[in-house]
Amino acid sequence: MAGGGLAPSNGKVKHYNGRVTSFVIVTCVIAATGGLIFGYDIGVSGGVTSMDEFLEKFFPSVYQQEKTASGSKNQWCQFDSQMLTSFTSSLYVAGLISTYFASMVTQAFGRKSSMLFGGAAFLLGSAINGVAMNVAMLIIGRILLGVGVGFANQAVPLYLSEMAPPQLRGALNMGFQMATTIGIFVAGLVNYGTGKLHAGYGWRISVALAAVPALIMTLGAIALPDTPNSLVERGLRDQAKATLQKIRGTDDVEAELQDMIEASEEAKKVSDPWSSILRPEHRPHLVMAIAIPMFQQLTGINVIMFYAPVLFKTIGFGDSASLMSAVISGLVNVFATTVSIATVDKFGRRILFLEGGIQMVVSQVAVGAILGTFFGDAGTGKLSPGLANLVLALICVYVAAFAWSWGPLGWLVPSEIFPLNIRSAGQSIVVGVNFFFTFVIAQLFLMALCHLKSGLFHLFAAFVVVMTLFVVFLVPETKGVPIEEMTLVWKKHWFWKKYILDDHITPSEHQRAD
Ligand code: BGC
Repeated sequence: MAGGGLAPSNGKVKHYNGRVTSFVIVTCVIAATGGLIFGYDIGVSGGVTSMDEFLEKFFPSVYQQEKTASGSKNQWCQFDSQMLTSFTSSLYVAGLISTYFASMVTQAFGRKSSMLFGGAAFLLGSAINGVAMNVAMLIIGRILLGVGVGFANQAVPLYLSEMAPPQLRGALNMGFQMATTIGIFVAGLVNYGTGKLHAGYGWRISVALAAVPALIMTLGAIALPDTPNSLVERGLRDQAKATLQKIRGTDDVEAELQDMIEASEEAKKVSDPWSSILRPEHRPHLVMAIAIPMFQQLTGINVIMFYAPVLFKTIGFGDSASLMSAVISGLVNVFATTVSIATVDKFGRRILFLEGGIQMVVSQVAVGAILGTFFGDAGTGKLSPGLANLVLALICVYVAAFAWSWGPLGWLVPSEIFPLNIRSAGQSIVVGVNFFFTFVIAQLFLMALCHLKSGLFHLFAAFVVVMTLFVVFLVPETKGVPIEEMTLVWKKHWFWKKYILDDHITPSEHQRAD
């Protein structure tokens, strides 16, 4: 079948010794807390930028504009302001630049060092933002937060995919996304509380509390062992063996260790991962490293994550109801992620991608149609309470679909497909592309809403159709395949196989393929 690729149950895929130890689970849970800082920031910025005291202090012109424009008739355009969005999106620019440096640290000094550095930068950034007296301090703080997520998102998904045993890699890697959704949800609740303070400093509490997840991740990273793959890569074979024995719960880890050593010997033949990733044999990896994070953002999810309160206000909910609706969709996001965790290693990645894609298209088309019909392009219509609730329900259906498909898979699949020599560089591309498109969406959404109106939902639906076809034809199933054996997956894929020549396959992979 097109795109089916390697069926992991064809007997060729290796099963290493060992079991799923509690040590590996605890380790992965601690590492996954890296997602908390990412999520907390996603959730906190939208709320903070809608707090009057914050706007008045740092962006007085936006504040004035918002006050004077509130009488404007066209609801679609009431929040259109580039200044307002730049606060949210600036972090992603810092993140996308820093992730390039993260790739070097992750490769040379290990995954753990990058997590430590990322946590510390985020900690400092949240402290500076919490006490910010002027826009300069605010921006320096935002840059440090960006560096924090740039490093964390580069290192954590790799860490998880390397630590996890193949049969549980999907679930353990998704701990990252789970932590992200929890971070978003908690930030929404914090904003809900501080927004009610009206004492002038509510926003300070919201931004300073980012220090809590940062502290958890930094302390966690100090306690964690590095991955055996990274230890082998840095020539620390004895340590790698000891770690492997501990995480797999058996002394006999020779086969897995040998594969890592082989992968690392291969890696040493290539001096520069950045030029290596451009070579033909890495074409499938490069395409995935760009397409998957790009598509993840083109689902339009961050329209909901960043601007849910604004969106709900636009369609006629009151202030408090809007914030509550954001909390509801945040909860759906958390719970739907668990569906993915429970099923990804049983049913595979492709089925989740496909089901999630179809469900997203249906709900986006319906939301666009309702808003187009009842709200009108002039943006002067009114939704009845029943219809507004229906829109909220449809948005929850959409969020749930994202949360068990492109959300976690957008981080899992890229982190498990790269060979060791380009793994760190590849993951940087993933983070860079993801942040670039997050930036674009964050920056352009309010303007796009103003111009495209309900058609914006249909535009995102069209993107989801394209990405679903991309999965059907070009994304192979990676469930259960050991991470250092992934080349075989491409070698057996109807389209990608032409890029993988026999000498790109390591001796142990050859044994399995024969
Ligand atoms: C995405 C974020 C998004 C979040 C929502 C993540 O996988 O990368 O951009 O805000 O999911 O849960």
